[in-house]
Amino acid sequence: NPACSKCPLRFEGICVQSEGNVQAKLAVVGMHPGYKEEQLRRPFVGPSGRLFDRILREAGIDRKDLFVGNVGNCKPKEIQVAPDVWLTKKEAEERIVKNCKTRFYQELHHVHPRVIVAFGGLPLEVLTGKRSITKRHGALHIVDLDRILAMHEGMDVGNWVFREDRMTYVLPVFHPAYLLRGKPQFHPILVQKFKRAKAIAAGEQPALFREILVAPHVRDVDMVLDLAEAHTDRWLAENRPLGVDVEATMEGGSRKAAFTVFGYSSEHYRTGIAISILEWCEDSQSYKFTWNREQWVRVRRLIEKVMLSQNSKCYHNFGYDVPLLRRFFDHL
Ligand code: URA
Repeated sequence: NPACSKCPLRFEGICVQSEGNVQAKLAVVGMHPGYKEEQLRRPFVGPSGRLFDRILREAGIDRKDLFVGNVGNCKPKEIQVAPDVWLTKKEAEERIVKNCKTRFYQELHHVHPRVIVAFGGLPLEVLTGKRSITKRHGALHIVDLDRILAMHEGMDVGNWVFREDRMTYVLPVFHPAYLLRGKPQFHPILVQKFKRAKAIAAGEQPALFREILVAPHVRDVDMVLDLAEAHTDRWLAENRPLGVDVEATMEGGSRKAAFTVFGYSSEHYRTGIAISILEWCEDSQSYKFTWNREQWVRVRRLIEKVMLSQNSKCYHNFGYDVPLLRRFFDHL
């Protein structure tokens, strides 16, 4: 790895390479090696690795079929980089991630698995740009490894064409080390997630949520409005329970909350509809109303239809959302 020569750990770190089947459909990636991994020069062979092996066994997966690696190939440690200049472990980790990322992306690009199980927040962030593992644990993300590598190498990906057959699913789960630190209740969940990852790697089509964004700036907004209306009518006719949420902002100088988004979803249809009311305007650095008259009449009708329907609704924050909606409709 040529980036190693720029790494602060170049004389200290023991490089633990990824291992496994380079044609694997399922890859598992962690953060960086630990003490035992350094000693044996293999990923996931310490306490986390033993738990990982047990989870694999319970999920009916043979480790030999997997590709297993880490974002960083070295264990971060406090090191002296110049006279009187020490890097903390955290800083060393940041530098390792920065240096090792190219190798990490290249490897995954080469293997091109269909599913990557990401252990913990670090690989999740490096692969998807998303941070919180607690929020995203178990939620499937779709990434394009070709695009990630191209972007990383500084290519312009403005007109990138996504190819369905090249997409990879990232399934973030809690790190085994987290379970070992007193969260054993997640053990059966991890087993179940690995079974799911195995099924998707074998070709199963995962159920995904569809999102319909109804906003003045989207392409073919009239068609999107038709689509949103057709879904809504169906959910109402079938009396499906709905999840409802409202977003508001205090930005823009006024002391009153400005209503920016109305969203609702049907779990049954795995579909969510987000209707934008005000849109952020870069020029004026404020929220603006940009619907035209005819469209706004339709948008309003749609929101009213949902609000006045008899379907049971679960609000994200009833106490806040309902008074806000009421004020909004009174105002109209
Ligand atoms: N933790 C990781 O993230 N990776 C390993 O290889 C071992 C422990």
